[in-house]
This record gives sequence, structure tokens and C-alpha cells, in this order.
Amino acid sequence: MARKKIIAGNWKMNMTPSEAVELVNTLKPLVATDEADVVFCVPAIDIIPAMEAAKGTNIEIGAENMYFEEKGAFTGEISPNMLTDAGVKYVIIGHSERREYFAETDETVNKKVLKAFEHNLTPIICCGESLTQREQGITIDWIRQQIKIAFLNVTAAQAATAVVAYEPIWAIGTGKTATTEQAQEVCKAIRECIGEIYDEATAEAIRIQYGGSVNAATAPELFSQPDIDGGLVGGAALKPDFGKIVNYK
Ligand code: PGA
Repeated sequence: MARKKIIAGNWKMNMTPSEAVELVNTLKPLVATDEADVVFCVPAIDIIPAMEAAKGTNIEIGAENMYFEEKGAFTGEISPNMLTDAGVKYVIIGHSERREYFAETDETVNKKVLKAFEHNLTPIICCGESLTQREQGITIDWIRQQIKIAFLNVTAAQAATAVVAYEPIWAIGTGKTATTEQAQEVCKAIRECIGEIYDEATAEAIRIQYGGSVNAATAPELFSQPDIDGGLVGGAALKPDFGKIVNYK
């Protein structure tokens, strides 16, 4: 069975609740499609108003982060139950900005991934290499390590429903998109790694996105690659251009 594309916006720390409603209202006619799953991952405080604004559309509202404990003395954190109670189905885990500025590691990513599955949330698991790692020729080794740790103790049935976002750090917010060949090469390596950990069927089922300066011009070629099942889009997800990215064909 062909994998359905999944195109997700990552709003990062942008948009107040009222701006979020405005943006959902602007984008909803532009992103209407049955061909791809469309997800807006928004700041926690925007989830409920965005969810209201997206009612009756094909837009799913997702979260940008989540903690790996159920509840308790973790000031400032958001629990899985808070997300599911608000109607959230997708959550970004381990974005490179979380790793860089908020000390997330492959180990905490794994804990969050396991917790997300426990609550029937679909994790969008981020991985990616730095420019130094790419220049040293260790990209694939690095990504394989990130994937192996992220999926520790995840069952095949769970893994088959996961989304992985390959986001080279040097391509995020820089306007420097990876070439189609670079993106396809790594997404293929991720699928092979999943095949080694689990089996062929799981590798075929899992959806792998590319992220890093995706725009309306680069999306069509990227998303037509055999191992790229859509994108995780930052800057361009806040603009009407996101409609063109979703309807890239
Ligand atoms: P960008 O961000 O599209 O602005 O490069 C992508 C991301 O960080 O998910």
C-alpha cells in the first residue's frame, strides 16, 4: 500500500492565540486536500484555539513538545494527557532546537517517544546532523544512532505508525535546503535502519519527512522521492505558501 504523505507545519515560538486563529482561518482553504495528512504543530497555548478554528477541516492540530511523565511537579511542562484531552494526535519529539537549547538527548527523546505511544499519540521524531558531521562524512552513522536510540523498546506495530523527520541542522531556518539527492539518501538510510531493527513491512509503513528550509519551489521534487513521505516545515508554514507546499503536485 502506498504511504500517504504527511505535511506538517512547525510553528515554533510564533503566533499568539489570536494570531493562531487568524492563521488557521487564512490557511484552511489553501491546505484543503485528501491526498496528504496536514498537521499544524503549534505552541501549547495555541492548541485549543487552533483546534476550534480548524474544526470541520482536514487540518490536524499537533504539539511541538511533550514531557515523558504523567503528571506532577514538573513546572512548565505539558503532559500527554493534556494533549490528548485537547484532541491532539501528533507531537513533535526531539526537534534539534529542543536538543540544542533545552538539553534534550537521544535518551529523553526515547522516553518521550515511548510515552507518546502509550497515549496513542503519533510522534514526529526528529533527527539530523550538524554541518561538521556532514563534512566529516559521518551523517549516516549519526542518524542511524539517533534512530536506534529513539526506537529503543518501541514495538514494530508502534513504529509502523510513527513519523520520522530528517532535518539536517544546517538546513533549518537557513534558506539552505538539502539537495534532493542528499535528502533522499538519508531518508532511504533511515528506512533501511528501521528495516534492520524491525522488518520489511515496518520499514515500508513508516513515514519519513524531510525538513529544513522547505518551500513551495523545493517541495515538489523533494516530496516525489521514493523515501520522502512529506515534510516538516518551519518558516514557510506561517505563510500562504504552505498551501502550495501541501498541494505540491
Ligand atoms: P525551516 O524549519 O523550514 O524554517 O527550516 C524546519 C523545522 O525546523 O522544522
